[in-house]
Amino acid sequence: MTEALALSDAEIAGIARRLDRPVVLVGLMGVGKSTVGRRLANLLSTKFADADEEIERAADRSVAEIFEEYGEAYFRDGERRVIARLMEERIGVIATGGGAFVDEETRTTILENGLAIWLDCDIDTLVERTGRRNTRPLLRNGDPRQILTELKDRRSAAYSQAQLHIVTDNGPHTETALRILEAIDAWL
Ligand code: S3P
Repeated sequence: MTEALALSDAEIAGIARRLDRPVVLVGLMGVGKSTVGRRLANLLSTKFADADEEIERAADRSVAEIFEEYGEAYFRDGERRVIARLMEERIGVIATGGGAFVDEETRTTILENGLAIWLDCDIDTLVERTGRRNTRPLLRNGDPRQILTELKDRRSAAYSQAQLHIVTDNGPHTETALRILEAIDAWL
């Protein structure tokens, strides 16, 4: 047994064997897509990619710098291309930026070629987590709680098209990764 997990190593290996497409984490900023994604990839013994990091590498700039120098539309173009490439490369687990799945073309690419997981949690947790770092351009001009609440209202219809929906609390990310594995097991 892997410690503190309700799934045995053999069961997790079985899930990994049956999974024939990338698992793609979608949802709002601060929900834990990158950290949970890394844990999930680790458990599944597969590769992990963070789409924002890949965009930063390709542009040789931070996400904030890309927004500042070129604007959001330019960022979304890069995001669309990078996610299409990661899907083609069949990376096992991919964490996306919060706006990626709202873009119709990106959403279609993910839904047709991957297994989308909507990671969801309450606004208080999102405000607390995003408040730890000032790296997110969309939260710089205004009250983060209000912006996150508006984004949640606006984006939930898109996020709800993901094949799986996992609601988390402020608990440990490893536990969330396990809940995802259980949901994938039931979905397969
Ligand atoms: C964004 C979320 C960010 C990043 C960019 C835009 C969004 O990613 O892609 O700042 O539109 O919600 P995280 O969700 O990883 O913070």
